[in-house]
Amino acid sequence: MRAVQLGNIFLTLTFAASIISAQTGPAADGQRLYQANCNNCHGPNGDSITGVDLGHGKFRRASTDDELRNIIINGIPGTGMPPASIAPPQAMNIVAYLRSLAPTTSATGDAAHGKALFASKGCASCHRVLGTGSRTGPDLTEIGSYRRVAELETSLTDPSAEILAENRTFKATAKDGSTITGRVINEDAFTLAILDSRERLISVERADLRDPSYSKTSAMPPFKDRLTSQELADLVTYLSSLKRIDAK
Ligand code: HEC
Ligand code: HEC
Repeated sequence: MRAVQLGNIFLTLTFAASIISAQTGPAADGQRLYQANCNNCHGPNGDSITGVDLGHGKFRRASTDDELRNIIINGIPGTGMPPASIAPPQAMNIVAYLRSLAPTTSATGDAAHGKALFASKGCASCHRVLGTGSRTGPDLTEIGSYRRVAELETSLTDPSAEILAENRTFKATAKDGSTITGRVINEDAFTLAILDSRERLISVERADLRDPSYSKTSAMPPFKDRLTSQELADLVTYLSSLKRIDAK
């Protein structure tokens, strides 16, 4: 087993953008239809067209589900929004999907205050943003490009609800009987590179490990009862502003 201090190492990690797990139901059907019919123009987060934001449950030209369905079916005459040949029930499923993207708190977030909370609530003791903070949790520098508002909200209130494969906590027993816990940041057929809870990079041979497993619960504490709904909205607004530089 080899342990090295991370500070001296330059790590380049590329993670595939998250694929939302396959589900069933109206919103899941709506998501498939959205990806097939709307993604090209509106983008995966619904915010690719300037001035239009389909991901926050507030629309300029519609307030009810029926109005949204009519826009989807008829388009908006005189604009770049075309009619779609989608049957009304399927259009309603798209509406269900768009509604599911909306954050559950009605509070409007303040990104600057969210940034301050990120420091004061201890997020930086596990997460890194633009080179500052800890590496034990995932780097959040570009999290706004990969996660939608509703997903970010769930990440904070109920971290174990959905964990990306590369963010799971790995646990195993080493040859010498010691326990290894951490995040697998690289692996091949023979070796695992693990970042342990003290930010040390450990390289271990698979053959030397007993009982390897991934934890189903997040190493992140739920913040449900530790944040007011305003604080939650502020943090989520801050996180969703953290976008890939070239995607800003
Ligand atoms: C060819 C590009 C294009 C496609 C495809 C497209 N849209 Fe649009 N959509 C637009 C444009 C442009 C606007 C803005 C129109 C305006 O208000 O000027 C818009 C506006 C909207 C609005 C109104 C937003 C608001 O704030 O009121 C909704 C809702 C919407 N689109 C949903 C969809 C859905 C759902 C699909 C897929 C079934 C879709 N669009 C497919 C281009 C497109
Ligand atoms: C004790 C360490 C710890 C603390 C404190 C912590 N997190 Fe986490 N966080 C993690 C770990 C580990 C994960 C990866 C597992 C998961 O997705 O839950 C994670 C996941 C996340 C994710 C999802 C990342 C993704 O790619 O899906 C977000 C967003 C997040 N944390 C934000 C925060 C914010 C904001 C705070 C402060 C309010 C915070 N975390 C505090 C350890 C922590």
